[in-house]
Amino acid sequence: MSQPALSNLPSTQQDIRLTARTSFVIHPNFAVTMRLLVLGAALLLPAVSSALSWTATPFSPPSYPLAVRSPYLSAWLPQGSGTALNGAWPQFWTGSTLGWAGFVNVDGSSYSFLGDPAVSGATFSKATQKSAEFTSTQSTFVLTAGGIDLTVTFLSPVEPSDLLNQSIPFSYLALSAASNDGSSHSVSVYSDISAEWVTGDDSLTANWSTTTGDTIFHQVQLEDQTEFGEINDHTQQGSAYYATLNTNGVTHQTGQDIVVRAQFINKGVLANSQDTSFRAVSDEWPVFALAHDLGTVSGTSATVVYAIGHVRDPAIQYIIADNQIQQRNLYFWSRFSSVTDVLSTFLGDYENALARANAFDAQISSDASSISSDYAEWVALSVRQAFGAIEFTISKDSSGNFNTSDILTFMKEISSDGNVNTVDVIYPSWPIFLYTNPAIGKYLLLPLFEYQATGQYPNGWSVHDMGAHYPNATGHNDGNDEPMPLEESGNMLIMTLSYVQAASDTSLITSYYKLLDQWTQYLIQEALIPANQISTDDFAGSLANQTNLAIKGIIGIRAMAELANLVGNSDESSNYTSIASSYVTQWQGFATSSDGKHLTLNYNNDSSWGLTYNMWADKLLKLNLIPESVYEMQTAWYTTVEAQYGVPLDTRHTYTKTDWQTYTAGIVTDTTVRDTFISALNAYAADGENNAPLSDLYYTTNGEVYQFRARPVVGGHFALLALQAAESSA
Ligand SMILES: *[C@@H]1O[C@H](CO)[C@@H](O)[C@H](O)[C@H]1NC(C)=O
Ligand SMILES: *[C@@H]1O[C@H](CO)[C@@H](O)[C@H](O)[C@H]1NC(C)=O
Ligand SMILES: *[C@@H]1O[C@H](CO)[C@@H](O)[C@H](O)[C@H]1NC(C)=O
Ligand SMILES: *[C@@H]1O[C@H](CO)[C@@H](O)[C@H](O)[C@H]1NC(C)=O
Ligand SMILES: *[C@@H]1O[C@H](CO)[C@@H](O)[C@H](O)[C@H]1NC(C)=O
Ligand SMILES: *[C@@H]1O[C@H](CO)[C@@H](O)[C@H](O)[C@H]1NC(C)=O
Ligand SMILES: *[C@@H]1O[C@H](CO)[C@@H](O)[C@H](O)[C@H]1NC(C)=O
Repeated sequence: MSQPALSNLPSTQQDIRLTARTSFVIHPNFAVTMRLLVLGAALLLPAVSSALSWTATPFSPPSYPLAVRSPYLSAWLPQGSGTALNGAWPQFWTGSTLGWAGFVNVDGSSYSFLGDPAVSGATFSKATQKSAEFTSTQSTFVLTAGGIDLTVTFLSPVEPSDLLNQSIPFSYLALSAASNDGSSHSVSVYSDISAEWVTGDDSLTANWSTTTGDTIFHQVQLEDQTEFGEINDHTQQGSAYYATLNTNGVTHQTGQDIVVRAQFINKGVLANSQDTSFRAVSDEWPVFALAHDLGTVSGTSATVVYAIGHVRDPAIQYIIADNQIQQRNLYFWSRFSSVTDVLSTFLGDYENALARANAFDAQISSDASSISSDYAEWVALSVRQAFGAIEFTISKDSSGNFNTSDILTFMKEISSDGNVNTVDVIYPSWPIFLYTNPAIGKYLLLPLFEYQATGQYPNGWSVHDMGAHYPNATGHNDGNDEPMPLEESGNMLIMTLSYVQAASDTSLITSYYKLLDQWTQYLIQEALIPANQISTDDFAGSLANQTNLAIKGIIGIRAMAELANLVGNSDESSNYTSIASSYVTQWQGFATSSDGKHLTLNYNNDSSWGLTYNMWADKLLKLNLIPESVYEMQTAWYTTVEAQYGVPLDTRHTYTKTDWQTYTAGIVTDTTVRDTFISALNAYAADGENNAPLSDLYYTTNGEVYQFRARPVVGGHFALLALQAAESSA
């Protein structure tokens, strides 16, 4: 992207900003860097927000989550330097358009408030956006339309304490109108979705129906579906739903976009009619609309609630023993017998769901504020994105009944390659699950354990992922998964011990001891002098003797010592403990620069350095394996290499990672350095340069995205809260 925000700034501010940019390269002097960062924040951020004609609380992110609950229900409002809710179409995480339009009719005049529709033959204005706000679970916009202010709330519930509820693939849109001039106004509201919600190819044919009962809902799907298929990352299976409770004053209609929208714009009410000439998504764009007459509004109206969602069944195919494939269903099916049931419960539960969401938002905000207000904003932006990449499933037993003891969680490696349950994507996402409910971590690891325990995966190290493309968790019996042997073996051991410590549940150790020990043997062979290989940061290239990879492996060995001890294998435990401590001493020798100022990126290379974020696991697991002096050395070093938007990942590139910087912020020994990391991350998120769901990979020099978007690894932004939780459970 070019620099959209700059053109909106008065020229003096542009000059200041350009000067600031060119002077922020890499500063050898920490004091200068700190001062410039403070200056940068003071000059840069208000300049960007002053270009907005509405207030953005806490700031304007690259993209607002609107309905983000699964890899296939993922609707966002791109921002760049600032885009009103009615200034662009919502987008799927890939950037493809999702038709979602909204109008409000006030005293006979219509205003658009959502999406960017053009409607020939009907006259309307755009409502004027006054504010935009995000919390962990909600994005809320207020727009003025004549004599009323319309509050538009997008609530994507995050329900870590009830995983069945979390598995319901629906999200809320709630509307309420309030008089803004003390007078009474006659108000009706409208919204619709297009068939773009059911495919990644708009030339395909969709069909649809409308059902009226306790709820009124539209259902739309592809006429020709591919089970477990995707086109351009959209599922090609299942149905999209748009629903509301069937209260007084609700009308509905399906038909061509401009026809249905003109009907509401001109009449303030829909025709309760259906267009049954099923056709391609883009052929006279069929839309599925619902409208509510709010009557006369003098104070604040009742709240109108819509549910939007996408349901596919079965959801996942999963490899079990003997190369058999099991089809798995979303967990909610064990409580509900039809989508109609789910919809009426989900819509009826809105006020409670909102109260739960507000409590959850407040808890996160209060916990994170104990670190800093910047940190509270940083984690709030990450929650829906992380939870929006996972799904909770159950299986059926041999008599066809759902087995609710068999919960498995699946994660899509969104945007990088679509792999299923990638170990080194679960690992950077891990902190949010540890913080919200460690059982989620267990359910994410279980498919990997179960599969490798069948003996079908041929390699001695841990598999990289459960399948090359979501939602096919069909394994890698050929052993040709992306090879990250040290990375993944270390990750599995670290996450297992982390789960065991957080949940006081040793079932993973007793069930999978053999695998855990097998990976440990691999680490004992390979971790100290790592062969030329990639780490999780595969985009940065492969390298021999990576300091950060070695320490992950060594921590993995030490973690196994704890696991062994927990199940009574004390001899094995003390053997692994002594191997790990001898390795750490040798590692320090190989990995410390000859001037003693920093760890290197690769052994014996004094001019190299990097974020040694893998040391975070030593703190999380409370192993005290690495001497405190190493943490202190690294802390001092980072202050000498900080750029405007953070510390580069390593000396090979100027880009960096949001997750790994947050991990690093969690283990530096100085709170000023910690806070500098977090404020640089926030400055990147708020810089107005980007317009896709938050990317974890961006340039430290200019705050622009390098690649990736919408990945669950933003769950790693909870790294500091996960450490806090681990400390308090000591
Ligand atoms: C789960 O959702 C139901 C509505 O389906 C609601 O009644 C219940 O309170 C929710 N449970 C929790 C623990 O949030
Ligand atoms: C839509 O197409 C599907 C698959 O071909 C079919 O099962 C369903 O009955 C159709 N629905 C309508 C409303 O025509
Ligand atoms: C998943 O596997 C099915 C075959 O079982 C195939 O039709 C589908 O295209 C695969 N999905 C993806 C996303 O590769
Ligand atoms: C249900 O799943 C659990 C966990 O996988 C398994 O141990 C149990 O045998 C299953 N029950 C039935 C009836 O299949
Ligand atoms: C890796 O480091 C070890 C220990 O310093 C050294 O013996 C070995 O030659 C290095 N390997 C490579 C490929 O640089
Ligand atoms: C310690 O573990 C290593 C690696 O498994 C093994 O080779 C060695 O024999 C063990 N030592 C003892 C004393 O058990
Ligand atoms: C040392 O590190 C620098 C910076 O990462 C790199 O350019 C150089 O190739 C490395 N040299 C060796 C011998 O690994």
